[in-house]
This record gives sequence, structure tokens and C-alpha cells, in this order.
Amino acid sequence: MRLRRLVYRIISIDERSSLAAYMYVFGSAGTGSTYRNNLEALQQWRIIPRMLRDATHRNLDVIITAVTLPANRVAADCASQTTLFGVKLPSPILIAPVGVQGILHKDGEIATATAAADVGVPFIMSTAATRSIEAVAKANGDGGQRWYQLYWYVLPPPARHMTFLHASELTRPRTNEVTLSILRRAKAAGFTALVVTLDTFLVGWRPHDLDAAYLPFTAGVGIQVGTSDPVFMERMGSLYGGPRPNECPAFPLDLEAFRARLAAGDEQARAAFTLGTAWLHEGNSGHFRSWTDLAFLRQNWDGPIVLKGIQTVQDAHAAMNFHVDGIIVSNHGTSAHGGESPLCVNPEPL
Ligand SMILES: Cc1cc2nc3c(=O)[nH]c(=O)nc-3n(C[C@H](O)[C@H](O)[C@H](O)COP(=O)(O)O)c2cc1C
Repeated sequence: MRLRRLVYRIISIDERSSLAAYMYVFGSAGTGSTYRNNLEALQQWRIIPRMLRDATHRNLDVIITAVTLPANRVAADCASQTTLFGVKLPSPILIAPVGVQGILHKDGEIATATAAADVGVPFIMSTAATRSIEAVAKANGDGGQRWYQLYWYVLPPPARHMTFLHASELTRPRTNEVTLSILRRAKAAGFTALVVTLDTFLVGWRPHDLDAAYLPFTAGVGIQVGTSDPVFMERMGSLYGGPRPNECPAFPLDLEAFRARLAAGDEQARAAFTLGTAWLHEGNSGHFRSWTDLAFLRQNWDGPIVLKGIQTVQDAHAAMNFHVDGIIVSNHGTSAHGGESPLCVNPEPL
């Protein structure tokens, strides 16, 4: 920690912003053991080429040869054409939902959504994106395959003047209005499948972000699905001037300068902070959903529903019982702490 403080002192503002952004992506939650476990699990796998097969023209929907190590050393050949929910894809690859991409590049999700469409890979847009649903859809274009990842909202935002949730706030009735609005917008913008992230009703404990006090949302970055949403913005009140469909946060994000502006009473900074905090409370409120709540999504989403964050066969069976269309086996990588590495989860019993 002392070394990191020293590094912070001797590098320039731009470099410091970049380092904090880099650590936001690269750093792990908790002690980092989930990251190490995932890496070790990945290193147990090998891609073993078969000989005298015509690999002159390579593509990813030909035969995949995999070997499971070290358990029973079974080699498996599987000829696969990747078809997901009736759509034939050029490869078995999708872009995972990654939030706050605008801290890494000035074009944020616009760049990745455009690139994904160029190579025919489905783009999963995060609810924590730094661009609106409509802007990402436009970048992904008519030919792009896009899925929408939902952080499943539970509570109404706190009152405008509040910085932290007060106990009385927790007892307010639950509402689905913002979720409904997001689902409507995603459908209208051509997102075909809905990915529901189940493992982040509570934000992970991330020591490096805490050391650097790095939480982009508090500066209004990564909340652009919210600031472009008519229902959310109406709730926040006329002071904030309604939805902002073209909002595009400044790059690079200098959180220290932002905090200085906030402390000096800058109105814009104050608005960004209030909106950011309210949006964060909506998505990662610490309130959890349950299986029976899935009926609401089924009623209000016309298309496949995929649950992200499943790690046990029991939960996979529960997903099947609740008629979801797919699961993403994941422990949220380095952003969460604990759980099983996806590569160690045994799919056999399914
Ligand atoms: C910087 C960063 C941001 C992420 N943002 C989201 C997000 O907004 N929504 C989400 O469901 N997952 C998010 N994830 C998790 C990834 O989608 C993915 O689960 C993780 O990288 C691990 O990969 P795996 O699930 O294939 O094991 C994020 C991961 C990183 C590193």
C-alpha cells in the first residue's frame, strides 16, 4: 500500500488516472484468491492439435478437440457449429458484459460495439455502460448481434439530498419501474437476449479501488443507461433536466480533480455525484432477488433470458425449472471474491 501511495505521488495526473483505471480492471476483489484460482484452473487446460487435418482455411466453427486435465484425461472431439437461440454465429465467442469502458478509451462501448459487429461477434452491453442503450445499438448497427446485461433493480433511488441509504429508505416499497423502462428500451434498440447478472446485488470488496477511492459512478461515469432513462431521470426531478441520450463522459477520468470541484461546490459535479450515487443504489443496492422474481422478467422480456453467475448444478437445475433459456457459468472473474472457477464446474450432471 505504501508503494502504491508513492507511485501516486510521482506520476502525472494522466498517468495516475490511467493507473487507477487499469487497477479497476486488472485488480481483484478481496485477497485476490479468486483471480489466482481462475488462472490456475485455466492453466489446467490444453488445446491439443490433431494432425493431418486440413487447416489451410481456419475458422472457429470446425472441430474443437479438448482434453480434460487432470481428472480422467478424456479427449473429446466435438464438431460444432455455433448456433445460439436460432442465430448462427461465426465462432463460439461472445463479448462479456464489461462496465465503465469509458474509463479505458475515449470511445468507450462505442468502439467495442462497432468492432464486435465488424467481426460478427455478439456484444453484451453492460448496464454500467458509459453510453446509452440507443447509442450502443447504433454503433453495433443493423447487422450486429447484441444482448443486454441487466443489473436487476430493486429499490427506488434515495431522496435527492441523501448520500447514503438511510434505514428508512430500505423499507420503502420495491419498484420495477426503472427495470421496465430499460427492458423496453433494450427491446426497441434491437437487443435480442437478456443476460441477468445474479452475483452483484452487492458490490465486491476491492481493496485497490478503496485505496485509491476509485469509484467512477460517483463522478457520474458508468451511469449513462440511467442518465438517458426517462423514468430514472423523472424520478430524480426537474433539477437534472431530463434524460441525456447523448451523454459522453470526459476522458480520461480524473477523480481527484472531480472531488476538488465537488468540494468547491461546483453544481455540475454535485449533480453527477447525486445521479451516480442514486444509480449505484438502484443496481447494487444490497437487496437480493429470488427465483420466483424471474416470472416478472419472463412476463416483460420477449426473448431469451440468460442467467449470469451460476456456479452449481443445483442452481443450473433451478434455472431449468424456471424455464430460463441459458446460463453463463461464471464467478464474475476478479470483481467478486470467492466462488468456483467456471472451468472447474462439472457440467456432466446436466
Ligand atoms: C472491468 C470489468 C467490468 C465488468 N463489468 C461487468 C458488468 O457490468 N456486468 C457483468 O455482468 N459483468 C461484468 N464483469 C464481469 C465479466 O462479464 C466476466 O464475468 C468476468 O470478466 C469473468 O469472466 P467469466 O465470467 O467468463 O469467467 C466485469 C469484469 C471486469 C473485469
